[in-house]
Amino acid sequence: MAGMLGRHFALFGFGVTAFAVMASATSMTGCAGDPEPFVPPKATTVGSGGGGGTGVNAGKLLFDDLFEDLEQSCGGCHKQGGSSNTPFLGPEASTLDEVYESITSWPDVVVRNPDTKSVLITWPGSGAHTAGPTSKPLETRILAWLNEEAKSVAETPNDVPTIEPFKPIVPGFNAVYLGELGPEFAGMAVTFQATALTDNSLSLDNIEVHTTATKGISFEHPLFTVYPAASVDGIPDPVDSFSNVSQEVEPGTAEPLGPGSVILTNWETGGKLSIAFESVSVIDPLGGTGGAGGGNAGGPCSAVTSFENNAAPALQQSCANCHGGNNGTATNAVDMSDLNNDPSAACGQILNRVNLNNPNQSQIFLNTDPSGNAGHPFDFGGNQGAFDNFRQAVTTWINAESNN
Ligand code: HEC
Ligand code: HEC
Repeated sequence: MAGMLGRHFALFGFGVTAFAVMASATSMTGCAGDPEPFVPPKATTVGSGGGGGTGVNAGKLLFDDLFEDLEQSCGGCHKQGGSSNTPFLGPEASTLDEVYESITSWPDVVVRNPDTKSVLITWPGSGAHTAGPTSKPLETRILAWLNEEAKSVAETPNDVPTIEPFKPIVPGFNAVYLGELGPEFAGMAVTFQATALTDNSLSLDNIEVHTTATKGISFEHPLFTVYPAASVDGIPDPVDSFSNVSQEVEPGTAEPLGPGSVILTNWETGGKLSIAFESVSVIDPLGGTGGAGGGNAGGPCSAVTSFENNAAPALQQSCANCHGGNNGTATNAVDMSDLNNDPSAACGQILNRVNLNNPNQSQIFLNTDPSGNAGHPFDFGGNQGAFDNFRQAVTTWINAESNN
């Protein structure tokens, strides 16, 4: 939001003024002064549907066939308001096309190598699934569909740090984790709100870079690339909006990425996005020795007492069983392990996920609201009343924070 534009980010000119890029993955020009041109991910696998979004989407056809059985077997728990906390099938009453959108934009569903990587296969197969394993015949069909979808998840070259193409949640809150860049990036994320302005333009707002409590990130020249549905031919942001961005984000903080928003005029409805970086590395003040928390002497929060009285108990009750240390993925992303011992440190972690100007737009609410569509693995078990109570308690602190 407006207030975020004032936050610190560094812009370095490369002496590049105009940046001519034609709408093709191969014609991307490099940054002036770079020895190697910086090219977006280029496929090495062959897609099924052809480029331009005009070809047949073979994955979609297989899904059409699967849809009813999936609704039948999984819909009882995996619709919004269902008990699973993971409503990948979307709202209760949705059309086939809406369910397709919802399931293909759920994190880690459409991936390369679905048999070992897609959560739709691995979770029910893990022995941990409340509902047990998926029946063999259904699993076989789900896998055939996911294998078809996987053909349009472009292979990315090793020398360009790139996040594998993913289908954004549109409209909605997206959290893109950077762990694919290497284990040292685990828990770091780029978050944004995506809104389609037209069939061919996608607005990304409130784009933020989130570090972990102990590690920061340094990067240059992030580049968003669009992949039309069922195509592996990436079309980089024609304006190359972030070509001048060079940024360092300290541990335990969040910052807008560049100016914090972009409009991708090469968007195609149903398409995917990837994010590449010209360079990216981890800032590790503890030199890899791991250990103690954020180390913000004094702490970033000004209303710690209100946090302790209003927010901490609610977070403890609903979130701490994952974010308090038991679930490494969750704790890396948002560390609530200090809720009791060091409320000031815990408050700082939560503050990074809060929108002081518009509390209801805070990430901690957007991604846990049972009536929302975020891909976060907890939404109060679909219980809207429990969510409302949580939001009310935590908002008391947020208001105190912005009044201080
Ligand atoms: C009886 C309710 C129920 C049914 C039916 C059910 N699930 Fe689940 N599922 C859950 C619950 C509860 C969870 C949360 C974690 C857990 O306890 O397994 C879950 C978690 C999952 C997850 C993890 C999602 C994530 O992103 O973390 C996947 C994937 C999944 N289920 C797939 C399926 C599929 C596929 C079917 C249908 C073949 C199905 N489930 C049917 C209850 C159900
Ligand atoms: C069942 C475990 C679980 C519970 C309970 C849980 N979370 Fe999370 N949360 C996660 C995981 C796992 C991630 C990291 C997601 C990833 O790596 O894809 C995460 C990430 C987040 C993020 C970062 C943005 C995002 O969407 O990824 C926020 C903010 C967050 N959780 C808030 C909360 C709040 C607030 C609560 C309590 C109301 C809560 N979480 C409860 C597992 C949980």
